[in-house]
Amino acid sequence: DDDIDSQIFPLQDDLEQQLSTYTTANHNNNNNINAGARVSEFLSNIPRVLSPPPLVSSTQEWRKLQRHAAQTIKSTHLRELLQDPVRCDAMFAEHDGVYFDYSRQQVTLETMDLLFDLAEKQELTKRIQAMVNGEKINFTEDRAVLHTALRASKDKIGTVFVDDEDAIKEVHDVLDQIKQFTEAFRSGHITGYTGKRMRNIVSVGIGGSYLGPEFLHEVLKTEEEGISSSLGYSLRFLANVDPVDVERTCADLDPEETLIIIVSKTFTTAETMLNARTMRQWLWDFMGDDIDVVKKHVVACSSVSATENVKAFGIDTDKYFFRFWDWVGGRYSVCGAAGAVPISLLYGFDLFEKFLEGARSMDEHFINAPMRQNIPILMGLLGVWNSSFMGYNSRALIPYAQALLRLPAHIQQLDMESNGKRISRHGIEIDYPVGEVDFGEPGTNSQHSFFQLIHQGQTIPVDFLGFVQSQHDILIDGEKLSSHDELMSNFFAQPDALANGKTADEVRAEGCAEDLILHKVFDGNRPSSSLLFPQLSAYVTGQILSLYEHRTAVQGFIWDLNSFDQWGVELGKKLAIDVKDHLTKARYDPKQQPVDIPDAPATSRILNY
Ligand code: F6P
Repeated sequence: DDDIDSQIFPLQDDLEQQLSTYTTANHNNNNNINAGARVSEFLSNIPRVLSPPPLVSSTQEWRKLQRHAAQTIKSTHLRELLQDPVRCDAMFAEHDGVYFDYSRQQVTLETMDLLFDLAEKQELTKRIQAMVNGEKINFTEDRAVLHTALRASKDKIGTVFVDDEDAIKEVHDVLDQIKQFTEAFRSGHITGYTGKRMRNIVSVGIGGSYLGPEFLHEVLKTEEEGISSSLGYSLRFLANVDPVDVERTCADLDPEETLIIIVSKTFTTAETMLNARTMRQWLWDFMGDDIDVVKKHVVACSSVSATENVKAFGIDTDKYFFRFWDWVGGRYSVCGAAGAVPISLLYGFDLFEKFLEGARSMDEHFINAPMRQNIPILMGLLGVWNSSFMGYNSRALIPYAQALLRLPAHIQQLDMESNGKRISRHGIEIDYPVGEVDFGEPGTNSQHSFFQLIHQGQTIPVDFLGFVQSQHDILIDGEKLSSHDELMSNFFAQPDALANGKTADEVRAEGCAEDLILHKVFDGNRPSSSLLFPQLSAYVTGQILSLYEHRTAVQGFIWDLNSFDQWGVELGKKLAIDVKDHLTKARYDPKQQPVDIPDAPATSRILNY
């Protein structure tokens, strides 16, 4: 049980440490190595006593929350909870202009206490520190998880090391390189192969190498539209391997004026590499088959370990290779070269820096603020509560800002690839629900799309994001009517409609015909949180990104997952390679034998069709 494990584990660790020191010190002596192997075997043969720690679901803290959900919360309506001013006053947190209100979650102050107890039990603070200090918490890939280093300020150089490498210094070296390159590009000092100034930027990448930069671009487009369009610049993203995506991306572009950025951490992802080769061919078709075309028109954002592949592609690795590191996951890479290069080319490096500053501000809050006031921790604990204890396995993200239209897609990948897992970090199959289906659309469009289901169908916790001021308000009717006020009225109304609902008596009092009353009843009791920001900007976008990255980490820490690997996407990739072989053969030899892929009979059938 817990007590025995806590006594035995340090002993086992200590023995293993001594064993490894002993074998290293005696590596020339075979007898001693054999002795070491025997001790090691002996240790591994006593599994019952040295069993891994129990699943979090068997801890007292978890069980208390289960009981509390079943016995108290599931039978209490939010309408009732919202009557309690003490509770409501306590359920908000604020940091650097960000206001978080979670009073419309199905929680009481007792629920929060129990969640904080669970966080203590799971050593949440220690795990957060391990992450930001560069410990290799992504143990299945033996990697640190340091996206916070991507936005750390220069005065933190010398504080975080990975394998003796100064992570923050590395980051700032690359940022300086990006600043120089993008300024030279924007001032016209860098020209294309034929001497023309380049104005079109195509960023080729998929998954985390695309969704983050694209969401950021969509936000800045509004804020800085004037700047980029006055220079005649454009930025497009090519992600899908569908040839139609290539066609649509290149349709009206002049290759002589186009710079291609290949964003791929591994520089091996099938879709990205095929699209990269296609774009290189497109350049060659117009300007001739010369490797210098590639050297002048193609740059790479990739990891240090991919250097040889980048070089082999023809890219000038001395000048046009902007690196990131194994300790940045693809879905956490927008603050590194993956986002910095395209965004700074289009909008200037200074604006990108503001985005980093916003993320840094939220990181510092996450690392330092006490749990009860810590917005990402609160959001993460509420995520665990809704998913594992209330049984809600989806959640929606609704920004009341059209410029955030791609935020939900980015957060969807960030979270679902991180916490869509089934094995605990101790290597045990988990028996509790983890990982939500994340989806969303900007308000008010979403209200006319899937809100029917959220109001009267399934219960889906919602995050509402609103902004005090618009990036571009429009006033009509003699300046009396503001479009932003109209938008924000919906932001404020929806959470109450979801929480309070509408009773049959209220519907009847409105004079509704008796046979329609039930159709018009809203049972309410549907949870949501509201996040209010001053105004959407590069800085605030950095805050939002950091909030959601850390929410995901908190949930993963509480659930005992490794949120930073993604083995689940491998199997499909492997099967696609098998199928591609058959399709390629069929293209050259239409009369080939029927396909038979032993692992995939259903696929074989449809391929033969
Ligand atoms: O979908 C899996 C994934 O590995 C993502 O995590 C990653 O962002 C994406 O593929 C692209 O990978 P890369 O940047 O190596 O091309």
